[in-house]
Amino acid sequence: MRSLRTGSTLASLLAGVALLAGTLLAAPAAHAADEPLRDLADAKGKVIGTAVTGSKLTGTYGRIAAGEFNALTPGNAMKWGSVEPTRGSFNWAEADEIVNFAEANGQQVRGHTLVWHSQNPSWLTNGTWTTAQLRQLMTDHIATEVGRYEGRLATWDVVNEPFNEDGTYRQTLWYNGLGADYIAEALTAARAADPSPKLYINDYNVEGVNAKSTALYNLVRDLKARGVPIDGVGLQAHLILGQVPSTLQQNIQRFADLGVDVAITELDIRMNLPSDSAELAQQATEYKQVVNACVAVTRCVGVTVWGFTDSDSWIPDTFPGQGAATPYDENFAPKPAYYAIAEALGGTTTPPPTGACTATYSVVNQWNTGFTGQVRIACDGASLSSWKATWTYGAGQQLTQSWNATCTQSGAAVSCSNASYNGTVPDGGSVTFGFNGSWSGSNPVPVVTLG
Ligand code: G3I
Repeated sequence: MRSLRTGSTLASLLAGVALLAGTLLAAPAAHAADEPLRDLADAKGKVIGTAVTGSKLTGTYGRIAAGEFNALTPGNAMKWGSVEPTRGSFNWAEADEIVNFAEANGQQVRGHTLVWHSQNPSWLTNGTWTTAQLRQLMTDHIATEVGRYEGRLATWDVVNEPFNEDGTYRQTLWYNGLGADYIAEALTAARAADPSPKLYINDYNVEGVNAKSTALYNLVRDLKARGVPIDGVGLQAHLILGQVPSTLQQNIQRFADLGVDVAITELDIRMNLPSDSAELAQQATEYKQVVNACVAVTRCVGVTVWGFTDSDSWIPDTFPGQGAATPYDENFAPKPAYYAIAEALGGTTTPPPTGACTATYSVVNQWNTGFTGQVRIACDGASLSSWKATWTYGAGQQLTQSWNATCTQSGAAVSCSNASYNGTVPDGGSVTFGFNGSWSGSNPVPVVTLG
């Protein structure tokens, strides 16, 4: 597979995005981070990763996933229900796609996840199994999946979410059937199947010092004492705006002091929708706190975000009315949180202007002689009571029709003014207008100026 990685600046990344995916941000290129996040993280010896969906790894999504992150975690593709929906019948397509993509782009892969109570196939959860059968099922699954990717993954989340909030063991298929030692058995089976990946236990609400994280701490201490192969602890970090635990760094440090690695494995920071610029600024501060806490502890290997764009986040489905949890908005524009991550990784960035309205030009459909395009005008920390978007077309590009704006083309110069009903763009709001055009030769994306 051809590498999707582009040049060394976000500006060039965005320019590449513009040419190939037909999207250009009018303003942010001039305010981009100086270096992609993955280069900043590499320089610090840290991981900056993202969860991904295999089917989306093309176009703009693929370019950002490859260009900004040095590690990928399959969001769903490696879960038991995904890879063995019917007993004995395997589907590795999406998992393979992600691993191949990562290798083509020089990225690590975090395998996620082998032994969990959720997203298991119904044949497994609905079956009646003896203890011996259940143990065999678990160890066979580990041997099969870990073995398939032998030597290719950096890390496995071997056991996911074993604890309740009060620090007792979660009553799952595995705990109920095999007892608490299913965790040690799973880790041992994973090491036997592939000696190379770092083996982790991963959980949520264990970011600060609390009953749940202390139970995890005690487990890891005991596993280490018994010589069970445990290399790291994953702190998922599905956080709520305003609720970053004050003991985060202290908690990371206490795990590190046990002699294991620590990773922030699923970071997102959600808020009520619609978000406003103050909330996005606060979110940026909190992303920075989390990344700073990891950077400050040598054995914290890095941070993975659970989806890099709000268009690929689990939050709105699970918490209706909440979202905006990731570092890129739904149109792939970097949010303040993106710049905050860059700064925490040592980047020198000029943040985007606070209080700006920007215009994004997209080609939404194109055929041999024609195309449909749109421009989205979005305001953040500013507002408009009327607007005019202008751009210059290349040879052969001609506007033929527009809607939700009054557009004229004179020579190569295009000018589109608001319709009577959509001149107002409030802070945090957006308007979109569309058009059809014809083209010959090529149909490049122009730079749009807002007036
Ligand atoms: O694939 C089906 C699709 O065919 C169907 O049309 C659609 C209808 O709802 O559902 C699709 O499956 C969904 C799947 O994500 C893939 O998009 C499931 O319903 C949905 O429940 C599932 O959610 C996943 C969730 O785990 C399940 O618990 C999220 O994408 C995934 O991000 C999330 O990830 C977990 C981590 O693995 C562990 N830590 C918590 C984290 C968030 O829940």
